[in-house]
Parts: sequence; structure tokens; C-alpha cells
Amino acid sequence: MKKTLALLLAAVMMLALLTACGGGDKPADTTGGGQQQTQEPAGTPEPAPEAPAEAGTIGVCIYQFTDAFMTTYRNALQEILEGKGYKVSTADGANDQAKQNEQINTFITQGVDALIINPVMTSAADQIIATVQAAGIPTVLINREPTPEQMAVYDKLVYVGCDARQSGTMQGELILDTPNKGDINGDGKISYIMVQGDPENVDAQYRTEYSVKALTDAGMEVEELNLTRGDWMRERGQEIVANDLAQFADQIEVVFCNNDDMAIGALQSIQAADRKVNEDIYLVGVDALDAALNEVKNGNMTGTVLNDAVGQATAAVEQMELLLGGKTYASGEQSVYVDYVKVTPDNVDDFMG
Ligand code: BGC
Repeated sequence: MKKTLALLLAAVMMLALLTACGGGDKPADTTGGGQQQTQEPAGTPEPAPEAPAEAGTIGVCIYQFTDAFMTTYRNALQEILEGKGYKVSTADGANDQAKQNEQINTFITQGVDALIINPVMTSAADQIIATVQAAGIPTVLINREPTPEQMAVYDKLVYVGCDARQSGTMQGELILDTPNKGDINGDGKISYIMVQGDPENVDAQYRTEYSVKALTDAGMEVEELNLTRGDWMRERGQEIVANDLAQFADQIEVVFCNNDDMAIGALQSIQAADRKVNEDIYLVGVDALDAALNEVKNGNMTGTVLNDAVGQATAAVEQMELLLGGKTYASGEQSVYVDYVKVTPDNVDDFMG
């Protein structure tokens, strides 16, 4: 009897000790540590076997379901969350901030446990943050990065994305790695057109700036023949490049597209104009969409840059779970970055499914 009591007491003490070490409801690491961490691109997520059937309800707001990259991202998020036993509701902002605001309010009224939000407009971040803060909902912002100052007002908020400067630089490097460093006609300068995403988005701003900066940093002379916003859409890429080819013809040596979907559109116009990528014109994108990987593989795109949707979705869910566990973020430490990776014909097979 005495022995049983002693055993019972030991078990209770052990449990108390474990709880004090963070196993219970004690807030997890509150030291920040979120500052521009770089996470390794992750592989295909494995559903956690020990996850409870109903881990909680998560509202996911996407700026626009028709966006090719965000479709891959959304599917990855859904798969990871459901694999962990969460109930997931996704909302299509249809590129309309007012509509997305309503969706956020609806999720809050429905009592979701956490939100993952891809804002329609970065400029609306203040309003979005004020809304989730007033409701006290742990929130992960994705893909469209607000400023550190905007995020600093709410400590249950974190951003997961990539540093777009890196992708721009890699696009420039893809051109520098070609046999003539992008100067196909040998006149001493790289003449390019830029097909830009939505310029309100920092990804579009930085990719535009840093792709060209990589060239000038390498001592190359550059000439911008045209810069046109294509809002991330394939049809716009096609239209813009068709117009530019009609106007500038052989002068164009390089076509920079801020994303792959526009690059695929650009390729249609390049082929329609009887130009041949990697022979008389270069073409680069960002994202590593399946369609772009195929074109890199068969030589119709010079290269692309992996924008790791699965890695970002994995990191977003990880951060969400930290928030649900009680983590708070110090100001200036609210961005978590996943690395971009350069994709060329040499390594494209590593990225193909
Ligand atoms: C992607 C684009 C996408 C955009 C949406 C960017 O990071 O490269 O393909 O359209 O995000 O915000």
C-alpha cells in the first residue's frame, strides 16, 4: 500500500515537472526568434499521425483563387492543415479588398481559432491587422509583406514569405550565366523588357529592381526598352510581349517576367513571332510552376526561380501552431523567410514531380 502511494506521488510529481517545462498551457518561446529566419525548403508534408481529429478551425483568405502560384500555395496549405486534423475554410478575395475584409469579419464571427491571410492589397495591412487584433485572433500573413512597423502593433501576428530581392537577383544571375551574358547582339549592352506583376506588391517592386541590379553590379550596361505591368496574369504577359516584339523586334535580348505565369504568356508571343529562346532571346520567370519547369527542361525558358509554395505553407502552419501555443512576437521580428532557389536546365529535374 505504502509502495503504491509512493509510486502515485512520484507520477504526480513527474507530471507537474513536465507541465512546468512547457508541456502544458505555458506560452511557448516568446523570445521572438522570428526575425528573418530562413527555413529550408520543405518536402511534401506528411500528415502528423498523432494529430487529433478536430484540432481547431482555421480561416484561410487568399487574394485571388485564379492566381496560378497562389493556387499551388492554397492547395498545399489545405493539405497540411487537414493532415493535422484542422477544419479549414478558404475564401476567395477575388482581388477585391472590401470583399476580403468582409470574409475576415465573417471568419471572426464564426469563431475561427486562427487566420492565415494573403492580403489583396499590402496597403490594407493596417486595417486587416487592426481587425484581427481587436478580435484577438492569432494571424499569419502570407505572400504580401507589410512593413515591420505595420506588424509591430500586434504581437500575435507573423508574416511568412520570401525575400523578393533574392529572387530578382537570381533572375539577373540566370542571364549572366548565359554564354553571352545576355548581350546577344554583342553591342555591349543588355536590352531588355520588364513584365511586372502588380506594382503594389513588394515582390513585383523588388524583382524588377534586383534583376537589373544583378546585371549592373556585374558591370554590365543595360537598356530598358519597356516596363509594363502585367498584374501576374498569363494573358497580360502574352499581350505585353506581343506588343513589345511588334515595337522593338530584334532589339529585345532579354524578357524579364516577375512571375512564371506571365512568362508562359510571354513564351506564346515569342514563339508566335518566330523567335527562339536561348538562341535569339532570353526569358526568365519566378515561381517554378509545373508549366515553367517543363519549358526550362525543353529549352523554351532560360530559367526560373523556385518560389517554394510547399515550404512557405509548411512554415505558415508551423508559425500558426506556435501562435496557438501562446507564442508572441517582438516587433521587428515578425518576418519568417523561406529561401528561393535558382532553376536551370542543369537542376530542373530535381524540381519536377
Ligand atoms: C508570385 C506570383 C503571384 C504573387 C501573388 C508572387 O510571389 O511569384 O506568381 O502572382 O505572388 O501575390
